[in-house]
Amino acid sequence: MRKIIIAGNWKMNKTNAEAVAFAKELRDKIGKIEKTGIVVCPNYIALAPVNSILKETCAGVGAQDLYWESSGAFTGQVSAEMIESSGSEYVIIGHSERRQYFGETDETVNKKIKRTLTTCCLTPIVCVGETLEQREQGEMKEVIKTQITEGLLGLSSTQMERIVIAYEPVWAIGTGVTASKEQAEEVHLYIRELLKEKFDEQIAEATPILYGGSAKPTNIKELLEQPNIDGGLIGGASLKVDSFVEMIEIAEQMFRG
Ligand code: PGA
Repeated sequence: MRKIIIAGNWKMNKTNAEAVAFAKELRDKIGKIEKTGIVVCPNYIALAPVNSILKETCAGVGAQDLYWESSGAFTGQVSAEMIESSGSEYVIIGHSERRQYFGETDETVNKKIKRTLTTCCLTPIVCVGETLEQREQGEMKEVIKTQITEGLLGLSSTQMERIVIAYEPVWAIGTGVTASKEQAEEVHLYIRELLKEKFDEQIAEATPILYGGSAKPTNIKELLEQPNIDGGLIGGASLKVDSFVEMIEIAEQMFRG
């Protein structure tokens, strides 16, 4: 059975001192968590200090992006190898804010996934999701299908076993409007069907699909109760230790044995 993952995407928040303070508090509060996957994704420069605090715990650390070359004259970029060398185990790829503000496309998402998979142990968290306009025009499924098909283009089943997907409807991110559990479940199930078509049933069943978009302690339970929702990629509500830990504790009680 897929285990539940609660991942915090801090976006461009927290100085190193704030990130370290968060990590210490988190470390002290998750001692009893055994069954839920925990990930925090700070900015690049906080990766190493946060990793050094969380390394003896069950929580993993992830970056929010990467560049698809491993080194060279690419001022300002950070490679998969560098992220891995910080002790991190995850990297978010294709977040809608990267697509919206920084020219991310399905093609660059694909390159980044492939580069990430050349490292030993980094897990890509690949984000997909439609805008409100696309949903209102009835294009949601087409958009998701293109993002999944082109983003995962050329991956083998063995490579796919390392991937986590996050469905994040753009209209729900940072807006306070969460997709209803039915809306989210419909898309999660659809993504699983696409994975079955593109790979096979075993891959489709094994791939964790997280929901993101105004997830918070008050709605995480009903989202996690859906059979195809395997966790949350959480922005705003992951910035405070208390609400982040509250969601982890809810997930822990819902462990699917
Ligand atoms: P939010 O962000 O929880 O603040 O809506 C989610 C995300 O963008 O990953």
